[in-house]
Amino acid sequence: MLADRPVSDRITTMIARRMLLKYLAASPLLATTGSGRMLAAEILDESSSQLADYLIASPADALDIFDFQRVARQLLPVAHYGYLATGTDGNETLKANREAFDRFYLRPLRMVDTSRIDLETTLLGSALKSPIVIAPVGSQNAFHAEGEIAMARAARSRDTLQILSNVSTRSIEDVIEVRGAPVWFQLYPTSNWSVAEKMLGRAERAGAEVVVLTVDLNSGSNRVMLGQFIRADDRDCSACHGNHPDAWIERKPMYDGTDATSAEFDPAGMTWAFLERLKRATTMKVVVKGIVTAEDAESCLKYGADAVYVSNHGGRAEASGRGAIESLPEVADAIGGKVPLLVDSGFRRGTDIFKALALGADAVCLGRACIWGLAAFGQPGVEKVLQMLNAELAMVMGQMGAPSIPDISSQHVAMR
Ligand code: FNR
Repeated sequence: MLADRPVSDRITTMIARRMLLKYLAASPLLATTGSGRMLAAEILDESSSQLADYLIASPADALDIFDFQRVARQLLPVAHYGYLATGTDGNETLKANREAFDRFYLRPLRMVDTSRIDLETTLLGSALKSPIVIAPVGSQNAFHAEGEIAMARAARSRDTLQILSNVSTRSIEDVIEVRGAPVWFQLYPTSNWSVAEKMLGRAERAGAEVVVLTVDLNSGSNRVMLGQFIRADDRDCSACHGNHPDAWIERKPMYDGTDATSAEFDPAGMTWAFLERLKRATTMKVVVKGIVTAEDAESCLKYGADAVYVSNHGGRAEASGRGAIESLPEVADAIGGKVPLLVDSGFRRGTDIFKALALGADAVCLGRACIWGLAAFGQPGVEKVLQMLNAELAMVMGQMGAPSIPDISSQHVAMR
């Protein structure tokens, strides 16, 4: 079976198949037959990157970031790909995240000098080379042997802000050392305050200056697609995952010394008082991640958030059926520029990123896009994903007549 063979074999097979298809399509004998036309059509479709089984052999071959998704799908164990891809229920929010971008169209303004495009910006007082940021994604060793370390190396070489999950498979100390600069630290709350307190102290000592509090999973999530992929994976996973329910904590270095086994990981009782407490307990700036309504944006301001992060967790939290880009305008209105605004969930192209910036975001974070790069080729894969999306954004800025980030405005976007 194709999926059971080593990766290099599979990629070689795909390339050989593609060459055969090209040869057959060029053949005068077959070109007139039905199958010849079908093959030619399949090859022509390649340029739109819709050829379902086409696998790139190196990052340099990528046409868009979906090329990395296909390789990741081939390489990852079935259950691990399911963990990456899953939404909730029938994937309503996951789909809405992508479909919602189509409801916003771009308005190019002509005859602007765009001979020099500048992506530089500032976020919470720090200068950034680009508004594109790496979102927190846990358990990155499940996608590549070097996990968060490869991500940090790519972040360093592409000079990109990285947000580290507290359910990472590598410690914040190791990641900051490799990154050569502070990362932002993302915190999942638990029912046990002392777990948070210990982690915050550790992140501060490691050099983190910003903590991102994720508030969108407090009542759990129904990840049906993940369950389906786990069901389809016939490997014995206990060697890595252990046999007892708390075994996963042992593989997460940020939980070392926190006594987290007694904590509730879906802290349904959490209220805005937690944000006030967090603000008092840390010297780090606090960003609240998972906000999708004006009401909650106002509460973020009221209870002292230093920045607001619009996110529906990449469609992995609730089946609201609403795309993150649709939530952005009401949150941006409520915030009124008082604090910085970040957004993620479904961003795959330069146009997506541009639309968010035009709708009021200051930065756009990438979850699965970076993980596809990581899973496919490790550090060079992430580097290429970041390079491509920055290049796509720069091109769109040129096309729209917005040569710098402050030039991007609501004039550049409208809703159908
Ligand atoms: C996530 N996300 C996430 N968020 C967070 O705050 N802490 C975490 O540990 C994780 N872990 C995680 C694992 C995986 C596999 C995925 C796909 C996502 C959510 C993440 O930060 C971000 O909100 C979404 O990934 C954004 O959507 P896209 O870009 O993946 O569509």
